Amino acid sequence: MLVNLEVQRFNPEQDAAPHVESFEVDVPDGSTVLEALMHIKDERDGSLSFRRSCRSAICGSCTMSMNGLDGLACKTPIRQLLSQFGESGVADAKPHETISSHAGQAHFGAAATAAPVAGAAVPSSSVAPKTTNGKSVGTVRVGPMHNLPIVKDLVVDMTRFWEKNKSLKPWLVPKNAPPAREYPQSPEEMERLWRPANCIFCGTCYSLCPVVSVDDTFVGPAAIARVGYRFLEDTRDGARKERAETIVEQNLWLCAHCYACSYCPKHVDPHELIALSCVATIEEGVTDNTGARHAMVVADTIKKTGFLEESQVIPGTLGYFNLIGLSSVMPLGLRLLLKGKMPPLLMRPVPRVTEIREIFKAAEAKRY
Ligand code: SF4
Ligand code: SF4
Ligand code: FES
Repeated sequence: MLVNLEVQRFNPEQDAAPHVESFEVDVPDGSTVLEALMHIKDERDGSLSFRRSCRSAICGSCTMSMNGLDGLACKTPIRQLLSQFGESGVADAKPHETISSHAGQAHFGAAATAAPVAGAAVPSSSVAPKTTNGKSVGTVRVGPMHNLPIVKDLVVDMTRFWEKNKSLKPWLVPKNAPPAREYPQSPEEMERLWRPANCIFCGTCYSLCPVVSVDDTFVGPAAIARVGYRFLEDTRDGARKERAETIVEQNLWLCAHCYACSYCPKHVDPHELIALSCVATIEEGVTDNTGARHAMVVADTIKKTGFLEESQVIPGTLGYFNLIGLSSVMPLGLRLLLKGKMPPLLMRPVPRVTEIREIFKAAEAKRY
């Protein structure tokens, strides 16, 4: 199978900015993107840099952007990309690039100003494809992970990613003195742990997250799922309250619930574990923050009336006694009033509100 691989290149010792280089390669049908890159490195250009180790979706080192979507190159068949994006070339719509191609360099601080951040727009190469004189069946565009500074070609500096994970204390703080033998876990307890335990720290979710790309105070989906949720829900751990406070300080509630991290190649689905971590922090009484207050006021008003009582949301989120905060939104309230758009202050419950309350009860009882 002949395929045209457009690979983003950047050598900080030679290049002022990243550029794209095209390689037409002949690889066996069924090849993965990683195999095609290895073919280029072995046969065409030994200077091409990328990370890989296991080639089996286990080590998490080959994460990169492929036709705009991040994932493991060793788990992504070229055929799959061509069937998703069309064999005539790279898709016009690149879902990830619409999410985070805005990843600027400024928010990464000094390190970022020294190196380009993956995800920034890259000009297409004026270099003609390095061809094997055939006609390729389609084009696959390969680039480094987003949201992290590029070291060289497809290799990014993962320091920030590891720092975020470390900030949530990825180790057990035993609740009791260690038992004589192992800590037994019931099947129900394991049920809560297997998903975060499947995380291989590949960083795909971190690379896909639009909040990470605009706010580096957000700890990110991998750290929350693999470390935060993992230890909040471990019954052997004795630091649940402290962990709840730390994860909120690391801006757990900044998650925009966009589901982009649901593309996790190991099916961890960080977004769901983020939502459960939010619940755990409320259970631990870490509620003096806008995220928790917002979630609670929204749930409370729906439970009460069956409606989202919008008139309650802003004061409930800011805090009913937060006079400074409330006065800052007064002009907005006034404008709504003048335009006749002020939501009603009191709402009557919908006729079958008890059924809505039952749904809440069932949802609240469901734990992983
Ligand atoms: S949660 Fe999934 S996508 Fe994120 S680092 Fe872990 S394995 Fe990778
Ligand atoms: S759901 Fe939250 S953590 Fe996941 S990608 Fe979206 S904003 Fe980021
Ligand atoms: S090479 Fe190990 S996950 Fe791809």
